Amino acid sequence: MRISRRRFLKNAAIGMAASPLTSLLWLGSQRVGLQNVKNKLKVPKFVKADGYLMVPAPNVSDLGGGRFSKVWAYTTFPGPSLTARSGDTVSIRLVNKLREETITHWHGVMVDTANDGGPQEVIERGEHYDYQFPILQRAAMNWYHPHPHMMTGEQVNLGLAGAFVIRDDEEDALSLPSGKYEIPLLLRDASFDADGNLKYVPDDGGFFGDVPLVNGTLSPTMKVDKGMYRLRILNCANARVFRIGLSNGQQMVLIGNDGGLLTQPVGQSQIVIGPAERLDLLVDFSSLAAGDTVVLKDFSTGWELLEFSGSGFAGYSYSVPPNLSVIAPLDGPSDPTRVFEFMGHNLINGQSFDMDRIDFSVPFGVVERWQFYAVSAGPHPIHVHGASFQVVSRVGGRNQVFPWERGWKDTVLLNSQETVDVLVRFDNYRGRYLLHCHNLEHEDMGMMSNFEVV
Ligand code: C2O
Ligand code: CU
Ligand code: CU
Repeated sequence: MRISRRRFLKNAAIGMAASPLTSLLWLGSQRVGLQNVKNKLKVPKFVKADGYLMVPAPNVSDLGGGRFSKVWAYTTFPGPSLTARSGDTVSIRLVNKLREETITHWHGVMVDTANDGGPQEVIERGEHYDYQFPILQRAAMNWYHPHPHMMTGEQVNLGLAGAFVIRDDEEDALSLPSGKYEIPLLLRDASFDADGNLKYVPDDGGFFGDVPLVNGTLSPTMKVDKGMYRLRILNCANARVFRIGLSNGQQMVLIGNDGGLLTQPVGQSQIVIGPAERLDLLVDFSSLAAGDTVVLKDFSTGWELLEFSGSGFAGYSYSVPPNLSVIAPLDGPSDPTRVFEFMGHNLINGQSFDMDRIDFSVPFGVVERWQFYAVSAGPHPIHVHGASFQVVSRVGGRNQVFPWERGWKDTVLLNSQETVDVLVRFDNYRGRYLLHCHNLEHEDMGMMSNFEVV
């Protein structure tokens, strides 16, 4: 299977000359090694989603220490963390200032087809798209990214992604760390050309970059006070699965994931997070002395993702409550309602995506059991639009449902030879939605399916 020619042509067009100054800075920092110089972590601003004017456009971003890269940005790289509350109605205008078509999808936000930002809704350069949707769901960290046909991988990789945080009264009542103690962390990997600009070099298996970026920062460091932090993690990499943990082995307290809070907190020293998945973690830095450091690492590669450096100042003291939320388990069939086989790099049940074909229809309001099976060529992070689901089993491969897969999910990681069953009920809207692999190269090559809720 080959990457589409359309995309390779696009890639060729991205190569843009850097100014002599940026090249110089870039080469200088390469000489000292990426992991030796620490840069202050960028933290994307929280911005009210309602009324937001979203303008994806070519831009330049400081990746840290004056190391500039050409990017495609929703104003900043990464985009602002949009916020809304349950019950709000959100209006957003998207204006396309890219040199190609785009559309923005609100990953994890339950919206109707017209607001879902799928490939049918793309707009050309200079055009706009007006979204308006109510926030129907509970507090959770969702995200936004482009979803054009066959060009999602490129657009996300060049910088188009941001967090979309929903809040509600239930979450407020927990008095979780907030303000400077609540930090969205957008993890991804990246590659650069000789001028230090982001370079998209996909292959059939997916894009795998040379270095990690956290919030668009190379080798980031962040000062932390002696207290509790809420780290809201999104894996917005095209294809890379991270196994995150702290360098000192200290446990992180997992309190939520894709669809919001779990019922109970659970301590974990390492957590696997696939593309598009989210984690809500509490990390206690109260014993980190001034000047001491602890590092958030990816234990799959050994990469240092983010250094935390003790400030010595008093922070937010918090004891984690034993109960966080109540989640009623979906009551569904014990045999699969539908089976989806993910094959090669581009097929679901032997078919590759066709925008104009609806592959199946699902009755509104009925709990179904969907079975995902990865024939090979995994991992495949499987994502469903239009509803959250509950993971009930994994057979083969890793053979278990992990603590971070409890509660409500919209993306589940499927390794080769694994069979994962989920229960799902579409009770938000009738209409057309997508099921796809969130390895963005797999998705772009066709590992995606249209279905209709009827
Ligand atoms: Cu995050 Cu269909 O996408
Ligand atoms: Cu989505
Ligand atoms: Cu896949």
